[in-house]
Amino acid sequence: MLSQYLYISTAPTLSREEIESILASSARNNSARKITGLLLYNGRNFLQLLEGDEAELVDLMLRITHDPRHTGISMLEHKEVRHRVCPDWAMKRVMIADSIESRREALEADLPKGLDPQMRKMIMNFAVLN
Ligand SMILES: Cc1cc2nc3c(=O)[nH]c(=O)nc-3n(C[C@H](O)[C@H](O)[C@H](O)COP(=O)(O)O)c2cc1C
Repeated sequence: MLSQYLYISTAPTLSREEIESILASSARNNSARKITGLLLYNGRNFLQLLEGDEAELVDLMLRITHDPRHTGISMLEHKEVRHRVCPDWAMKRVMIADSIESRREALEADLPKGLDPQMRKMIMNFAVLN
């Protein structure tokens, strides 16, 4: 069964290196497990979209939940899907522009086209928070 998870969490200010290290683990492990998705970090919170086989995601969510680099994981969405929206991204880092005004535009260009409208809205709402 193909599933998607969308969650937010809270993190202290992490260095660029720490974020790079999370992305490096993700790229390595996710490719091997056919997990895809995207990760946003606004300096205080993460938002991550994960998609793949349900059993693989349960396993990954368990690891992520116990990762001391963040806390307070809150699940926004967990559902079965027919297609991936990020088929080509083992874990894409979506940058959040510095100026709130330019965030919407930048994200519109960066977010995958196949994202369903409700999920797109949740991600957009997260991205314009400061
Ligand atoms: C916000 C956040 C997102 C993460 N996303 C992933 C992920 O998509 N895939 C992954 O394997 N690890 C992810 N991790 C890291 C895992 O918690 C864990 O450290 C890692 O999988 C351990 O594997 P490694 O020993 O190969 O680095 C994430 C961690 C954080 C804090």
